Amino acid sequence: MQINKIRANRRKRLADSMGNGVAILHAAPEQIRNRDANHPYRFDSYFHYLSGFPETEAILVIVAGTPEASILFCRDKDLEREIWDGFRYGPETARDAFGLSEAHSITKADELIPKLLENQAALYYELGGNQHSDRKVFDWLNQVRAQSRNGVTAPDEIHDIRSILDEMRVVKDASEIETMRRAANISAQAHVRAMQLTRPGKMEYEVEAELLHEFRRNGAQSPAYTSIVAGGANACVLHYVNNDAVLNDGDLLLIDAGCELDGYASDITRTFPVNGKFSGAQRDVYELVLAAQAAAIEQVAPGREWEDPHRAALQVLVQGMLDLGLCKGTPESVIESGDYRKFYMHRTGHWLGMDVHDVGDYKRDGQWRKLETGMTLTVEPGCYIRPDDSVPEQFWNIGIRIEDDALVTQDGCEIITGGVPKSIAEVEAIMAG
Ligand code: GLY
Ligand code: MN
Ligand code: MN
Repeated sequence: MQINKIRANRRKRLADSMGNGVAILHAAPEQIRNRDANHPYRFDSYFHYLSGFPETEAILVIVAGTPEASILFCRDKDLEREIWDGFRYGPETARDAFGLSEAHSITKADELIPKLLENQAALYYELGGNQHSDRKVFDWLNQVRAQSRNGVTAPDEIHDIRSILDEMRVVKDASEIETMRRAANISAQAHVRAMQLTRPGKMEYEVEAELLHEFRRNGAQSPAYTSIVAGGANACVLHYVNNDAVLNDGDLLLIDAGCELDGYASDITRTFPVNGKFSGAQRDVYELVLAAQAAAIEQVAPGREWEDPHRAALQVLVQGMLDLGLCKGTPESVIESGDYRKFYMHRTGHWLGMDVHDVGDYKRDGQWRKLETGMTLTVEPGCYIRPDDSVPEQFWNIGIRIEDDALVTQDGCEIITGGVPKSIAEVEAIMAG
């Protein structure tokens, strides 16, 4: 289906869920990095999901009804600014290019949006999403309220639009899945490249550069998050992003990196030996994490609870921690006491989509929600062992995570990041080749 039609259907679903009232969505503002330099522009995920309009300084207003109206406010054409900063659609072209019902200059927003709010029962917007847009929305509401003596009423219900949009976004449609598969393939290719080019003596940032090279040359706009390229003990720092240390012979390298392609994230972690050969202790922990991941992936299927993959990974990890002498007691006592958290302190996955930690509730009415066909999530168990006298020394500074992206299918799941190997034999073969 054509992308404008897909987005029109999303706007209709939103309007149908609202029943009545008006929704307001703001484009992301530019973010200053320092002085005259901005961060690369990244659109707001909700705004993009519903409009596809790529520019900043834009607002989408959706008025529920039959048919619902989708009204865009955006910057005017401006030759002077376009010479410096590039193309701007301007309202008329934007309306046609994105299949919207109306478009106006952003300079008209303060005049026209209050009119769109008049006598409407409900307003939907991203409450607290951004101070500037909160302020604008409150100003517009006050403009409507100021007319009460003329018999005009302002919406007296304000809803967080996220409660509707997050539920829409958590189940991916065919076009989203297609983009996510492409993003996953590019990231898998980047991890393979990193394995092939890693050698003792290289710097972590040199390997990071290989990942970025592969992302960008395949059309991905950026990494979906800051790449973690962590050699040796650095792998035990969960959010290590300095990536400035030398890679030592005999150490492992943990890489957590994924590209963002056309607004969709991928998220892969692989851990492999810098010199291409796992040592005995590295092998023991690696096989354990790999087995935990396999057990978790088994649980990714429609009807399973969100928590089932985590529970399965934890069972395997805890038994392994006991077998390797990292923990003492029984599996039940280690889970009960939480002693495993010293080595496994994060959860086994998260929703994945436009945002790397994507939107969507994990619990409903106090219960873990059930997985449904079309949901996408990561499966990423790990084991991180810091030096500690209570732990056999051969395991010190081993940090391993193995992370893949799963699509829930009708009869289980599909691992969309399968293009990068993870068995010890395959990893060693790639590195040897
Ligand atoms: N790279 C972020 C995560 O794995 O959750
Ligand atoms: Mn992840
Ligand atoms: Mn990750």
